[in-house]
Amino acid sequence: MKISFAEPDLSSSGAVVVGVWEGKVLTPSAGRLDEAAGGTIARALSGPSRFTGKKDEILPIVAPSNLSVSRIVLAGLGKPESVDSRSLQQLGGNLLAHLNGAGEEQATLMIDIAEVVPIGQAEAAAEIAFGAKLRSYRFDKYKTKQKPEQKPSLAHLTIATNGASAAKRAYKPLKKTAAAVFLTRDLVSEPANVIYPETLAAEAERLAEFGVEVEILDEDKMRELGMNALLAVGQGSARPSRVVVMQWRGDKGAGGVRSKPIAFVGKGVTFDTGGISIKPAAGMGDMKWDMAGSAAVIGLMQLLAARKAAVNAVGVVGLVENMPSGTAQRPGDIVTSMSGRTIEVLNTDAEGRLVLADALWYCQHRFKPRLIVDLATLTGAVIVALGHHRAGLFSNNDELADRLSEAGKAVGERVWRLPLAESYDREIDSDAADVKNIGGGRAGGSIIGAQFLQRFVNDLPWAHLDIAGMAWSSKDAPTVPKGATAFGVRLLDRLVSQYYEKG
Ligand code: BES
Ligand code: MN
Ligand code: ZN
Repeated sequence: MKISFAEPDLSSSGAVVVGVWEGKVLTPSAGRLDEAAGGTIARALSGPSRFTGKKDEILPIVAPSNLSVSRIVLAGLGKPESVDSRSLQQLGGNLLAHLNGAGEEQATLMIDIAEVVPIGQAEAAAEIAFGAKLRSYRFDKYKTKQKPEQKPSLAHLTIATNGASAAKRAYKPLKKTAAAVFLTRDLVSEPANVIYPETLAAEAERLAEFGVEVEILDEDKMRELGMNALLAVGQGSARPSRVVVMQWRGDKGAGGVRSKPIAFVGKGVTFDTGGISIKPAAGMGDMKWDMAGSAAVIGLMQLLAARKAAVNAVGVVGLVENMPSGTAQRPGDIVTSMSGRTIEVLNTDAEGRLVLADALWYCQHRFKPRLIVDLATLTGAVIVALGHHRAGLFSNNDELADRLSEAGKAVGERVWRLPLAESYDREIDSDAADVKNIGGGRAGGSIIGAQFLQRFVNDLPWAHLDIAGMAWSSKDAPTVPKGATAFGVRLLDRLVSQYYEKG
């Protein structure tokens, strides 16, 4: 689908969408269209209908005979005070889905809100376009027999706005965000026979085109570094493990002093069978997206580079496949992690924390970052706690936690803080080693996972996002079609900007 911006023009063809405020109040362009169409809109609104202009309401009405448009669609805008960039994105996404569902091939959105809402018209148009773009994502490359009616109909979406060139400019960075989100969604959607540690590393290597410095650590290098916890997870797989290090140095530094980087660490288990502690068959296919944390880090690094952000960031992803086999690690094995700490692996299905233990350690010691955020589909327990509405947030730093919460609200990737405390930490004391990789039972499972990670975090601001409930969606949302969500990309992009703007 092509998106373009143009000056408003009532002689356009295809569907035309205009905005209506709550209480059936027409926006100026809706008023003009109504006039041109001989009062069609006013008549539709006065007839029997549940459409009152509330947010998320959409009412298609018949096209008037005197205009070239194929259909008029009314879009509820809600109350002016509730309009913000996020609600405009949702509007764009909802409209895109509606237009595709209705079989429209061409549509023009004429949504002018600037007179009522303190948000520039150009910016508003760009946000609507961005929402439509985000919703338009599809992963259908393996569907070879799609009938035309199974494919999206909309080929061209025009955003009509005064100052179209300013809107186009405002859309430019958002387009880069969408590209990064789509990259992440693609990586997460690919099956595990296509995306495994080596191929995922190769995908990350492509960020070099954007100016990201990419290094790939192979197993020999990891062994040399002592990353035995990560290697133990991959040892049952025929696919060798990889660690990918991505650096974006966009902050050239005032007076030659570069800022310490902000670091991101991602869990990249390209398939999680559970290992010898094998998972039940039902739903195991979901575990192809157990690398969503790493895919979000890769997407984020692409985005920072693509928009030439004046920031320093590093991304470290630990890529492994967790398989049962004759070479797999056994429950009860004890491994020495890169930190020197020994880990008793009592459940091979608690593998993400083993991968992150070494990735976190490596990242801190090599880069001495200003702060570190890890993303991981770490526990089923976080889904029990928060469902598919919020990611679990754990942090040793209130400011970082608050900023993540704020950023999450702004972009619609919500997080909810859960506790860390010594009483939980005691549950992972091992009789045989320094730490064990599971607690005593199922209670508080996502907190136990976070406590484990914290054992490998030194004295720096750190946050852990358990995105197990958020990485994949079973139903459509306004700007996220069902499937891979790319949760974290927009949230962390915003966090980075915040730290560099506010200090
Ligand atoms: N990858 C899973 C967590 C997961 C579950 C992600 C569902 C997405 C959806 C993780 O490696 C895992 O298996 N965790 C175990 C931990 C347990 C053994 C302590 C879990 O949640 O059951
Ligand atoms: Mn697991
Ligand atoms: Zn896992």
